Amino acid sequence: MTAVLIRGGAPYGEAPLDLLLDGGVIVATGGEATADERSVDAEIVDATGLVVLPGLVDLHTHLREPGREDAETVETGSAAAALGGYTAVFAMPNTDPTADTAGVVEQVYRLGRDVGLVDVFPIGAVTVGRKGERLAELAAMANSAARVRVFSDDGDCVSDALLMRRALEYVKAFGGVIAQHAQEPRLTQGAQMHEGEVSARLGLTGWPAVAEEAIIARDCLLTDHVGSRLHVCHLSTAGSVDVLAAAKVRGTAVTAEVTPHHLLLTDERAVGYDPVFKVNPPLRTAADVTALRQALADGVIDIVATDHAPHASQDKETEWDNASPGMLGLQTALSVVIETMLLPGLLDWRGVARVMSEAPARIGGLVEHGRPVAAGEPANLVLIDPTARWTVSGASLASLSANTPFEGMELPGRVVATYLRGRRTVSAGALAGV
Ligand code: DOR
Repeated sequence: MTAVLIRGGAPYGEAPLDLLLDGGVIVATGGEATADERSVDAEIVDATGLVVLPGLVDLHTHLREPGREDAETVETGSAAAALGGYTAVFAMPNTDPTADTAGVVEQVYRLGRDVGLVDVFPIGAVTVGRKGERLAELAAMANSAARVRVFSDDGDCVSDALLMRRALEYVKAFGGVIAQHAQEPRLTQGAQMHEGEVSARLGLTGWPAVAEEAIIARDCLLTDHVGSRLHVCHLSTAGSVDVLAAAKVRGTAVTAEVTPHHLLLTDERAVGYDPVFKVNPPLRTAADVTALRQALADGVIDIVATDHAPHASQDKETEWDNASPGMLGLQTALSVVIETMLLPGLLDWRGVARVMSEAPARIGGLVEHGRPVAAGEPANLVLIDPTARWTVSGASLASLSANTPFEGMELPGRVVATYLRGRRTVSAGALAGV
């Protein structure tokens, strides 16, 4: 592989800096990059006007393989991720079969490695079959070739307090984390959308905010009691922000994510009953959106995670009650964060790097992703045109499914190139044909 000299890109949107990549590493920067003898034969990439960030890391992706290869595969999901600026994704275990054994997590891990567009890190299920009855073989998954560190029953809540306690205790031994889908099941039976004024108007069964907030509060207390580590998936309400902030002040080892769709869209979208807007947890109110943005800016919420949830058209394009919840996210996440956080001044580019790369890598236990754009660091990078605008079209996304809630929206910022260990996975905004 020849060396690559990226000229004139602006790390974190700051002063432009040349970057010389060789052997999967950023070997030199600035004047030293052009002075280095390896730059003589290097492929030159003109990055004038582009922002350079560490490759993005998604702690919450559904790749659907094994089992639902009609909705997404590791290959198509990896392509969507690379095009979205990601160099690493964590794959949720609600596959068929469930990723609850060393065998299945190793299968997903190897598929990701064979595709080679992003590093795929499988998340292991907390309970066997995600049924919430008994713990899965967490240590076997941790010790497998996939070296699983994040465990979740996402899609369902580990609602049994004793099981949750045991899971938190168990993962302590190998520095793991439980990523909880916070949803009290009895309070959300049959729920179709956020419980509030809009659900009352539409006659759809409501999903009350307290069903999320109560589980987060309980789990923070359990985490303190056990001395373990908790991550809250797709936090969606202002009340959850308050619970989380209080726990952090107390010193609880808790982190939390917010999705791009919860940063931009509200429950008003359900008017019209278009199931593309059905998601779990549901879209909330404008006041919740404001609180989520502020919490992400303040660091109360740690990261943005996509909850990329592809669904085949027969599962999604049906009446609201029967439609599967979930939305595509990998190729639109960065643009939504630019729209909702960067342009309004709530985050600068360093902040975007923190919430979309550095912090998710740290939470997931990765050492080769989410690193600074600096000499000696792994060459996992994304080059972004901050001035470009584009119109989202589900049909032209790389995902096998088309269920984007941003269809037809014009969004800011485009991924121009992505590098995984110095190898280009995306160039000129298209897959590099690796
Ligand atoms: O909307 C959602 N879809 N929420 C989840 O928790 C699961 C996900 C899926 O797997 O489709």
